[in-house]
Amino acid sequence: MTVIEMHNVQVAFGDKTVVSGASFQVTQGETFSLIGASGCGKSTLLRVLAGLQREWQGTMSLFGEPVKAGSRYQGALRRNVQMVFQDPWASLHPNHTLYRTLAEPLTIHGEKDVETRVSSALEQVGLPADAARRYPHQLSGGQRQRVAIARALLLQPKILLLDEPTSALDMSVQAEILNLLNRLKQQHGMSYLLVSHDADVIAHMSDRAALMAGGAIARFFDRDALRRGEHRMA
Ligand SMILES: Nc1ncnc2c1ncn2[C@@H]1O[C@H](COP(=O)(O)OP(=O)(O)OP(=O)(O)O)[C@@H](O)[C@H]1O
Ligand SMILES: [Mg+2]
Repeated sequence: MTVIEMHNVQVAFGDKTVVSGASFQVTQGETFSLIGASGCGKSTLLRVLAGLQREWQGTMSLFGEPVKAGSRYQGALRRNVQMVFQDPWASLHPNHTLYRTLAEPLTIHGEKDVETRVSSALEQVGLPADAARRYPHQLSGGQRQRVAIARALLLQPKILLLDEPTSALDMSVQAEILNLLNRLKQQHGMSYLLVSHDADVIAHMSDRAALMAGGAIARFFDRDALRRGEHRMA
């Protein structure tokens, strides 16, 4: 099943075209990655998919259903597509305990058993249950990124959009988070769209990758091409 389909998607900010025609598909269960120079439009494309950047042209389908530009995600779609940002601070309110941060999306969506769900979310990302009482500044960078991942997973999304999820972390912590992401993907049958500047991360995580250049996709890499390291030369 195709979970993401973009065809000739374009995004402009004022008279500046940032994405000039991106086309690709992601199959259920896949990790598909976007690579390319800084400013080539990777995060913009993720924000389009997340429903955060609502002005775009072209065609896009999620889970086989067409998504209209300008539309606000609602219901199942809003739960099923979640994003993890490069900077975990972006999804954590400095003055809210982790409990409050994690309970919020559940409450908004009218979910039950909020306390149990928050504890199990923390456990899933390898944080102790009593971490719920802490504030973001009382955590390490790796712990904060685990909380951001826990928050994205709370609504049991089918697609996780990962924008440089480990670039702010030490190598050893980075490996832990990447392994955690792979384990969670297996457990929950998710599909990932990953952005990373790190060729090792791309090789370790991806089933396929696409190189963006000048706002369009210049080249695709399959598993074999990634194993041969062809993306490192691109
Ligand atoms: N809201 C916005 N308004 C105006 N310009 C924007 C906006 N968001 C992004 N841009 C511009 O669009 C271009 C693409 O930005 P984007 O963040 O998608 O790049 P990126 O590929 O994610 O880069 P990086 O690898 O550095 O994260 C950049 O030139 C950026 O300045
Ligand atoms: Mg970016």
